[in-house]
Amino acid sequence: MNRFLPYLAFLLLATALTGVKPSGLTSSEATAAVSRFQEYLRIDTAQPSPDYVKAAAFITSQAEYIGLESQTLELVAGKPLVLVKWPGKNSALPSLLLNSHTDVVPSEPDKWDHHPFSASLDSSGRIYARGSQDMKCVGMQYLEAIHLLKKAGFTPDRDIYLTFVPDEEIGGNAGVGAFVKSEIFKKLNIGLVLDEGLASPGDEYRLFYGERSPWWTVIRSKGEPGHGAKLYDGSAMENLLKSIEVIKRFRTAQFDLVKAGVKAEGDVVSINFVYLKAGTPTPTGFVMNLQPSEAEVGLDIRVPPSADPEALERRIAEEWAPSSRNLTYEFKQKVPIFDIYGKPAVTVADSSNPWWNLLEEAVKKAGGKLGKPEIFPASTDARYYRELGIPAFGFSPMANTPILLHDHNEFLSKDEYLKGIEIYESIIKELASHNGDTIDEETKAEL
Ligand SMILES: *[C@@H]1O[C@H](CO)[C@@H](O)[C@H](O)[C@H]1NC(C)=O
Ligand SMILES: [Zn+2]
Repeated sequence: MNRFLPYLAFLLLATALTGVKPSGLTSSEATAAVSRFQEYLRIDTAQPSPDYVKAAAFITSQAEYIGLESQTLELVAGKPLVLVKWPGKNSALPSLLLNSHTDVVPSEPDKWDHHPFSASLDSSGRIYARGSQDMKCVGMQYLEAIHLLKKAGFTPDRDIYLTFVPDEEIGGNAGVGAFVKSEIFKKLNIGLVLDEGLASPGDEYRLFYGERSPWWTVIRSKGEPGHGAKLYDGSAMENLLKSIEVIKRFRTAQFDLVKAGVKAEGDVVSINFVYLKAGTPTPTGFVMNLQPSEAEVGLDIRVPPSADPEALERRIAEEWAPSSRNLTYEFKQKVPIFDIYGKPAVTVADSSNPWWNLLEEAVKKAGGKLGKPEIFPASTDARYYRELGIPAFGFSPMANTPILLHDHNEFLSKDEYLKGIEIYESIIKELASHNGDTIDEETKAEL
């Protein structure tokens, strides 16, 4: 018998037990990277009172550890944003911005198997924490990937910036919203932004090139009040319910397109009824024999970049809230689907965009595969950049992972996390290199 066989068998067994270690990290590096991730996850940055001071201090210390300059900007009081810079050889080239938000959504700890800020690593290698998918993983992966590249002696051609931003989960006005208006931002000369995506249950990573715009709409109705026993036309409830029926039919038709596989979720107009308000209150409930003179409904409408916004608004004005039926409407939030140049705020996700080619190639080189580019169904900070005409992709490298963002028991497996570091190592290397003259000012202006 070959004297190495028992040793080989031991190695195979060890590999089977621990999972295949990604090639780019030694096992001690992997262990250290996982514990740094856990440390970040344990900082309670849940809305509505995130510990931003602690998160900013942690990111600053991580940047320092890997030898990167950083500064903490307080563009809005109490909302620190950490800007990290990895200088390239040629600062005249458009830079790369790697964005991640530091806040997370609230959780209900008693509904979790592990406390949402414990970052417990269970026996199957899952790390449980609020923010493990959305999106502390990505923020740390950027840093870890740069750490590996620096250790390997790589220097980027273009400048690379990392932003760790507050308030994404509450709309981003005091985060990226304030940042893109700042003087500092204007000097960064950003050519491409990478921001968050979504986990993928299959083995292809998901990539987003645009997102739906929220149109939060309130429809109000007025009508003749009257006795609850009387049948008559023109009550506020009757006027509003007619609209609700029409809106429901439209919702069903859009949803049917998704169910039939004709359109992706991000490509239809979604509508959900988020509140109904009517009635004449009493101390114990509502008056039951009175038809009220006012009623209103709240709608969360999400509009894809492919939609015709004028046609949709006409539909709202003429069919959903016609003044002829004594209805009015108001947008509580109406994010434009066009950028400041009047074009749909999407980033070209095909071979005509050199950034896209580099990104796709980089993921492939690291052994990953991208699925068909999608429109993000909800909102992310990427919209602030696309609105300015700056290309931005949404990408969180989590394959074979259930989508648990904002859900109970949000987790990410240790191996998937480590694999993501390698994916970013490849992406940053590829995007940081000045490949001929493919990405110059001219190309950037065209995109
Ligand atoms: C709208 O309000 C006016 C004025 O109160 C009323 O005359 C009319 O009948 C109402 N129309 C409907 C459809 O309720
Ligand atoms: Zn997020």
